[in-house]
Amino acid sequence: MEQNKDLSQFDIPLAKRIYINNSNSILLKKLLIFSPFICLLFSIFALRLIRNIEIGSLVNINFQTQINRDHRILGHLPYEEIPKEKLVLIEPNIQVHIDMRTSLLEMRDEAKKNGIYLVFLSGYRSINLQNEIFYSLKSFRNQEAAERARVSAPPGYSEHSTGFAIDIGDATQRETDFETEFENTDAFKWLINNAAKFHFKLSFTKDNKFIDYEPWHWRYEGSIEALKVFESSNRKS
Ligand code: DAL
Ligand code: ZN
Repeated sequence: MEQNKDLSQFDIPLAKRIYINNSNSILLKKLLIFSPFICLLFSIFALRLIRNIEIGSLVNINFQTQINRDHRILGHLPYEEIPKEKLVLIEPNIQVHIDMRTSLLEMRDEAKKNGIYLVFLSGYRSINLQNEIFYSLKSFRNQEAAERARVSAPPGYSEHSTGFAIDIGDATQRETDFETEFENTDAFKWLINNAAKFHFKLSFTKDNKFIDYEPWHWRYEGSIEALKVFESSNRKS
């Protein structure tokens, strides 16, 4: 008996079983069952997030490339100088592209018949002359390049170098030459209503982002060569 008592202290006690609270165990089971789906959903969400960030930065790069692809400088598109043999004189000091001479003179004649007197102020300008206009006046007026570019194109970037641009005034109101007030003249109102018949278009409208409004500056788009020259500009506007 004494021996048995001694032995009982070496007896292995019954394994103590702890049962987890019933509702917790159901939750745990559910979590275990659904964990692969939760992982899958999380992975899909993470992948989509990464893809959106990547696409976002790609769109950004693309946008930057598009901006730079047209090679603008301070908002002005580049234009080549017209070959001299394509220039014709329409006034003692005004030359234009031969393609637009007839239309331009017909437009002036038609306006005259309507009692409107158009005066041509500036046509073709060489890149050298544009260089003078841009840099000399910029310096004289103490302007920064961006400020100057709002009213004058840098050399190599003026529509006037193509021979297809013409600045027009009202012969009866010369004080409005090259002024925004030209828009109040009868000449301008007539041009707005009739210039397209002669294939002329206002280049720098009020909604132009980079260049100030120039109601006097018109360009010719009545030949394939002219349309090619202004293709980029028309695509952007
Ligand atoms: N004034 C226009 C922008 C030019 O210089 O061509
Ligand atoms: Zn002009």
